[in-house]
Amino acid sequence: MMTAEDFLELAERIAREAGAMLLAERPARPEVLATKSSPTDVVTALDRASEELIRARIKEVRPDDAILGEEGGATGEGRVRWVVDPIDGTVNFLYGVPEWAVSIAVEVDGEVVAGVVNIVPRGEVFTASRGGGAWLAGERLRCNSGVPLEQALIATGFGYEPGRRAVQAEVLAHVLPRVRDIRRGGSAASDLCALAAGRVDGYYERGPQDWDYAAGGFIATEAGARLGGLHGKPCNPGLTLCAAPGLFEELHDLLAPLDPERDA
Ligand code: IPD
Repeated sequence: MMTAEDFLELAERIAREAGAMLLAERPARPEVLATKSSPTDVVTALDRASEELIRARIKEVRPDDAILGEEGGATGEGRVRWVVDPIDGTVNFLYGVPEWAVSIAVEVDGEVVAGVVNIVPRGEVFTASRGGGAWLAGERLRCNSGVPLEQALIATGFGYEPGRRAVQAEVLAHVLPRVRDIRRGGSAASDLCALAAGRVDGYYERGPQDWDYAAGGFIATEAGARLGGLHGKPCNPGLTLCAAPGLFEELHDLLAPLDPERDA
């Protein structure tokens, strides 16, 4: 069996290649090919091309592994599963906002062992392997700790459906007066890496799927953060919460009574 470091090396190589392809191929204004959960939840040809490239590269080396990708869904079975977001932050990609990422995580027996988030327009490649820490450009990352809720800079994001957004706005109206400020970057993977690097203190969002948080969430935990859902659950599309221990609990206790997993 390959080690976590071996998986990370392979995942990083593939995420860098997909990122380079996306940078080279991105037209000035990418065309929307299809929409998903709402007219503003878009897919471009390059989301698909990136996922196809990533799947092909994985299969060359690991033909029997399972893959879960945002565009291609779940394929294969096996102890090893690759969780792939070919472009996280597709709306940023569409508009040319330099905050979109290729995100790849590798799970063995359901546990993430390696993660890479390539924030392509910024040339920042965040990596982590189980027990090996989180890294950016040769520097080991530590998330901020000891930050009280009222001093915390909190990243969040919003879904694509109007009903869900109305609830998210209601929740945000309770959170905003209680924290330092809010950031909405447009890529969950990038938000979680920002947390790992101490650029924000906490993150919460209703809606992100496995492919959005698998690699970034793992990188944040390897940088010392706690990652989870509400009421002791693991993080899940209902709610993803991440912060250093202490702030995690404060943020949890602020959010839980607001019932943020509602959609209308
Ligand atoms: C989205 C981004 C965004 C978050 C949404 C996600 P996509 O992923 O991560 O920041 O707020 O919940 O769906 O659609 O750009 O891959």
